[in-house]
Amino acid sequence: MILMNDFKAEPPELQAAMLCAAKRVIESGWFVLGKEVSAFEQQWALACGLGYGVGVGNGMDAIEIALRALGVGRGDEVITTPMTAFATVLAIIRTGATPVLADIDPQTALLSLDSASRCVSANTKAVVLVHLYGQIREMDLWVAFCANYGIALIEDCAQAHLASLNDKTAGSFGIIGAYSFYPTKNLGALGDAGIIVTHDEKLAVRASQLRNYGQSVRYQHPELGLNSRLDEMQAAILLERLKWLPDFTERRRQIATAYFDGIKNPYVTCPALPESRSAHVYHLFVVTCPCRDALQAYLQQNQIQTFIHYPIPIHMQEPCRNLRHDPFGLVNSERHADTCLSLPCHPQMSDEDIATVIAAVNSFQGK
Ligand SMILES: Cc1ncc(COP(=O)(O)O)c(C=O)c1O
Repeated sequence: MILMNDFKAEPPELQAAMLCAAKRVIESGWFVLGKEVSAFEQQWALACGLGYGVGVGNGMDAIEIALRALGVGRGDEVITTPMTAFATVLAIIRTGATPVLADIDPQTALLSLDSASRCVSANTKAVVLVHLYGQIREMDLWVAFCANYGIALIEDCAQAHLASLNDKTAGSFGIIGAYSFYPTKNLGALGDAGIIVTHDEKLAVRASQLRNYGQSVRYQHPELGLNSRLDEMQAAILLERLKWLPDFTERRRQIATAYFDGIKNPYVTCPALPESRSAHVYHLFVVTCPCRDALQAYLQQNQIQTFIHYPIPIHMQEPCRNLRHDPFGLVNSERHADTCLSLPCHPQMSDEDIATVIAAVNSFQGK
């Protein structure tokens, strides 16, 4: 079976380095918010071209803490996309603010600027822009849009580790970037982990208090925070895995190139080409097909695992049915949810695996 992720197939050198890192942490006798976390925070912020990184428990908390550090809360509105992981919207709701859902661009599945502009109100305080599937696009336009309305741009970079456009990296376009290091992400820990990156020292300080019960100095709590501390074990593992990220990203790009060149089937549409090679890190390679379920079943029969990102847009999830949204509707998100399919695209795939996926997709004959 060709899997969507295959961690057991990772290089033995990486596995050995992770074991060493784990040993180092066990022997250090210090397990939460210590030297490993500081080292990783610095390295990741540097990789993003930013001054500050604040390690947190997961990607969802990173978004919540980013919003709360900016003072977003009850009575405020935050524009985002219905075509995302539930965590994006749940993070907004947990701040007390109200998510407002704009539709996606049908070509890219990213938030549509036109639709977002129809969602702005006097209460809008921020946009959470999701770099879906690993692609960053139109960043000048988003920066200008947010500046024009006087609202904060927060980047949800959970799927776009170090994607870059015009020499700027995901997370550095807006005021704060929020990353997840869930194991299946392009840079993944061996459990939950996340980080906030920013160029703003005050926001970084506030975020580091919020992640630790709102504590400023030991046992003093000027505000109510949460417990979302990054632990030493995950940070040590991330430091090792970070060394492999450039090669792993390169392999994802090679796979994507092979898919773009090789997939030729009138029923299957490849994703839009990226704005530049560096602007997509192919966390996911998502095709669309009018008979998606049949394609998925066919690939399964051919020993190819696929997933759907995402089968139910946020506004169709029970707790989110009454969220305000683009008055023109969210039809592009609904259509995408019905037709999208993620093909295997991970660094451990062999050339033979890639050829097998292409041949299987091309031999699909519709319903
Ligand atoms: C786009 C997006 N945002 C946020 C998250 C939340 O990250 P985590 O699972 O680390 O909380 C994810 C992960 O699934 C994601 O894909």
